[in-house]
Amino acid sequence: MEQTLSIIKPDAVAKNVVGKIIDRFESNNLRVAAIKKLCLTNEDAARFYAVHKERPFFNDLVKFMTSGAVVVLVLEGENAVAKNRELMGATNPKEAEKGTIRADFAESIDANAVHGSDSLENASIEIAFFFAKKEVA
Ligand code: CMP
Repeated sequence: MEQTLSIIKPDAVAKNVVGKIIDRFESNNLRVAAIKKLCLTNEDAARFYAVHKERPFFNDLVKFMTSGAVVVLVLEGENAVAKNRELMGATNPKEAEKGTIRADFAESIDANAVHGSDSLENASIEIAFFFAKKEVA
């Protein structure tokens, strides 16, 4: 069993498709082990995406992630990290395979509906960023 972090981003929250996205996870054997809705501050978003701070899209990314509420989840299941990334599809929705979350709900590489941890190691760092141990059950 693995755990991974998912963020349903401001574009998808604004479109009112939180439940539809969670259904993709649950229908594919990923269980919601933790969930909360919150608004990231500039500092939160910059810290969460610190690995990207030298990238040209960093400021736009922080601006977008603080533009509205997000829903953060811990997903649990067999191969949860890879499974979640498969369900999300490519970072750029225009390149995402048909039937993936980003192909179905995202508009652009910035407003791309969801974030998912890219490795087991980053999953545990990202989960700890948002959740106390007792909140994951
Ligand atoms: P995410 O998986 O949340 O990780 C970093 C985010 O930066 C990514 O999704 C995209 O929404 C955003 N981003 C914007 N431009 C790029 C780019 N050129 N390459 C990768 N990520 C980008």
